[in-house]
Amino acid sequence: MIGKFDQKTVVITGGASGIGRACADAFARQGAVVVIADINHEAACEAAHELNGHAFELDVRDEHAVIAFAQQVEQEFKNVDVLVASAGIVQPPHRPEEFPMALFDDVLNINFRGCFLTMREMVRLMPSGSSIVSISSITAERSMPLHAYAPQKAALSNLTMGLAAEWGPKGIRVNAVQPGFTKTPAIQKQIELGHRDPELLERNSTLGRMVEPEEIASAVCFLSSSDAAAITGVSLPVDAGFLCAGSWFAYGGLR
Ligand code: NAI
Repeated sequence: MIGKFDQKTVVITGGASGIGRACADAFARQGAVVVIADINHEAACEAAHELNGHAFELDVRDEHAVIAFAQQVEQEFKNVDVLVASAGIVQPPHRPEEFPMALFDDVLNINFRGCFLTMREMVRLMPSGSSIVSISSITAERSMPLHAYAPQKAALSNLTMGLAAEWGPKGIRVNAVQPGFTKTPAIQKQIELGHRDPELLERNSTLGRMVEPEEIASAVCFLSSSDAAAITGVSLPVDAGFLCAGSWFAYGGLR
């Protein structure tokens, strides 16, 4: 059987867990050679082993490391056809007055700066027809008590449009997926710590449930494929209807 991504090299940051891992599984199933770059080297190696792919230890905060990673990828694979930038952390809600600046910096440096840096280095290896998808969030679209996380995801939407405009003439598309609350180890931990309430999350999405990591991966694969050849610069919510249901509380909630 011929897969949609046969012979394609797909680099996935944060590919050792959650959404990144689901993307690695989906691309590998469709014939891609997956290259998993993650700060958790052990988990990246396990995933790569299972998927017949490749693992690299990478901290996306470290500019020299990202540059060196790109050089290694170039030596071993020459080109990159798809980049999925999923490395990231979530944050617990904090009052702005009490916001720990170390956490603020980490969220910005990993989720936003790290994403930009990865795209900046990888694009040099990407031929015309290739595609970049970053993992943003629905928090980009609404105010939430996540005063580092949500604004940097909103910034990512703007960056997605800017880089799509920059690299479109080279035939490279740049899009983002905005997951709603997705059942990953990161969110599971927030639930266990009492920072998220799964019952509230489910009740406030019109489909009455959270999102599966595989559903985010499907959207990422679509945006990376030739089926989306005319789509660039967009941020696509995949949220089980959380955004569209949000303001119904003013009318007594969903019916
Ligand atoms: P996760 O914790 O399951 O996976 C994140 C991966 O990123 C881990 O393998 C981790 O080791 C890696 N990582 C963390 N810091 C890194 C660094 N400095 N350098 C390289 N790798 C690093 O989390 P999840 O939920 O899969 O999150 C992935 C992305 O999805 C994040 O950008 C997050 O903001 C976004 N997202 C998640 C949502 C959710 O509900 N789970 C909702 C909206 C967005």
